[in-house]
Amino acid sequence: MKAAVYYAYGPPEVLQLQEVKKPVPKDNEVQIRIFSTAVNSADWRLRKAKVGSRQKVFVYGASGAVGTAAVQLAKYFGAEVTAICSSADIEMVKLIGADRVLDYTKDDFIKNGGTYDVVIETVDKLPYSDCMKLLKKNGILILSAAGFSQMLRGAVTSITGKRKVITGGTKETADDMQYVKELIDNGFYKQVIDRTYTLDQIVEAHRYGEQGHKKGNVAIRIIESD
Ligand SMILES: NC(=O)c1ccc[n+]([C@@H]2O[C@H](COP(=O)([O-])OP(=O)(O)OC[C@H]3O[C@@H](n4cnc5c(N)ncnc54)[C@H](OP(=O)(O)O)[C@@H]3O)[C@@H](O)[C@H]2O)c1
Repeated sequence: MKAAVYYAYGPPEVLQLQEVKKPVPKDNEVQIRIFSTAVNSADWRLRKAKVGSRQKVFVYGASGAVGTAAVQLAKYFGAEVTAICSSADIEMVKLIGADRVLDYTKDDFIKNGGTYDVVIETVDKLPYSDCMKLLKKNGILILSAAGFSQMLRGAVTSITGKRKVITGGTKETADDMQYVKELIDNGFYKQVIDRTYTLDQIVEAHRYGEQGHKKGNVAIRIIESD
């Protein structure tokens, strides 16, 4: 079967298409035929914001893959969502349900944006101190793209204060996937796809994704190139 593989770290060009042996599942594994996938810097992981009805949620980087998921899940859980993106993505972010959309290139949301029960920073662009300014006294900060130093700061904040900071990886379970599938089937969650590439175009897809301006997801159609 055809696969996109890489043997060294580096730019998108390190990716190569190769014929590889089809994996044989063990007794406790299943083999899944993938029709399409997404270009992500990490495997898709959805941080479950345990958001309650009428809580105020702030999503920074609302137009990315993680951001569009966060906006929709927060709305589904009944929150009032303020989303931050740039001018070009405002309409799309409104369409997926945000109550209020602010433009990070124009609006001073730190000064005028209010405070929130939950702040979700999805793109690691908003300084930690600004995240804290946006957070209520007992609020929860979710840093889904945090590096090591932010993780450390988050741990200190959680231990020493009333605010909680959630960072690090999550483990997806079959129940999580089933839950999201039901949301999609029932029209509560829309996957935002910016561009779709074939597996043969994997280098181009990475090049585009790496620019950091995709709207939602970049999808890879596997089956056409199989
Ligand atoms: N996608 C995943 O499945 C996944 C999984 C795990 C972890 N992560 C991590 O989560 C982070 C976000 O990934 P992503 O795929 O959602 O998006 P991304 O590709 O990293 O970012 C794309 C989005 O970020 C927005 N953006 C860029 N600069 C911004 C800024 N200064 N302020 C606010 N928004 C800005 C862009 O909008 P504009 O073009 O309008 O600026 C674009 O919509 C990454 O660090 C990634 O490593 C992603």
